[in-house]
Amino acid sequence: MNVDGKPTRTIWVAGDGVVAIIDQTALPHAFVVRELRTAAEIARAIATMQVRGAPLIGATAAYGLWLAMRADASDAALAEAHALLLATRPTAVNLRWALDTVAGRLRGLAPAARAAAARAAADAIADEDVAINRAIGTHARALIEEIARQKGRAQVLTHCNAGWLATVDWGTALAGVYAAHDAGVPVHVWVDETRPRNQGAALTAWELGAHGIPHTVIVDNAGGHLMQRRQVDLAFVGTDRTTAAGDVVNKIGTYLKALAARDCGVPFYVAAPSPSIDWTIDDAERIPIEERSPDEVTTVAGTTAAGDSARVRVTPAGSAVCNPGFDVTPARLVTGIITERGIAEASREGLARLFPKRAAAAKGDGR
Ligand code: MRU
Repeated sequence: MNVDGKPTRTIWVAGDGVVAIIDQTALPHAFVVRELRTAAEIARAIATMQVRGAPLIGATAAYGLWLAMRADASDAALAEAHALLLATRPTAVNLRWALDTVAGRLRGLAPAARAAAARAAADAIADEDVAINRAIGTHARALIEEIARQKGRAQVLTHCNAGWLATVDWGTALAGVYAAHDAGVPVHVWVDETRPRNQGAALTAWELGAHGIPHTVIVDNAGGHLMQRRQVDLAFVGTDRTTAAGDVVNKIGTYLKALAARDCGVPFYVAAPSPSIDWTIDDAERIPIEERSPDEVTTVAGTTAAGDSARVRVTPAGSAVCNPGFDVTPARLVTGIITERGIAEASREGLARLFPKRAAAAKGDGR
């Protein structure tokens, strides 16, 4: 996507042993690029959500193994860095996928060859993410175009941030929106604010604005009302992990949007790059749901009129808080899963039809 008219990825290699990221905790108020030089710095950036979004978490972790191998390419260092990075966030399966992909390429190599191989593997993961998302965008764009042909404009609702910032480029849920807009198709996006961290209000709104896409931020509770009033044509969300049976784990609140969409007859699509599909799990109850800090609920962060960062309290001191980061949308509420290979029915059979080898390999594992 363009930042100040310049094509920009969300992560890039800025020098020998230097990984550059956009610090998403500073957006939308400041565009800050940070340079990371060690696996520990990469782990901290993921854990503190300077980078976030399932595909970007995976790509960032892959570069973390590169930095680790530059420092010490022993088997012990590889295992230690893999464990450190894997522990940063529990729900998005792209993290494990990316770490296992890079580590798998390194294990048979002599230590002297590992840093270069890790860099190549991380670059490949980043490039593959861009290609996957571009392909998802072409499938989603066709859905948007069809609505716009019928109605003159398509209205899309999205939750959290599954856009450019959540990936290396293009986004998943927003890839079709960018593709449609760039092709001149009229599209407007309803942006769920996505409490508690406000990824919608802060990040989705920022990136859509930077690309010139018409959008309106709404509170999380407004989506059902807008659907009832026929102001939403399509819902597009991302996923942190989709089971082999088509159940979708995504940002907390996704399930409620899917329920409202079903009640109102609004098609509810999940954009799922294949690395977000966990072929080893059929039962979403087995997926760890990240529990995050109560501070995210008891306080809200923003910028004052004077331009200073501030965090203000919104709950009474002493009230108990529960802050699950993700929820499960059952496959039966999902109209389709948009992958790089096309749109699958949200079911084991639907996914296996598009990815027969991966589905069969997981079965062969007995998992
Ligand atoms: O906690 P976050 O901000 O990392 O959660 C992000 C989401 O839930 C996204 O929808 C998901 O990772 C898909 S991103 C393409």
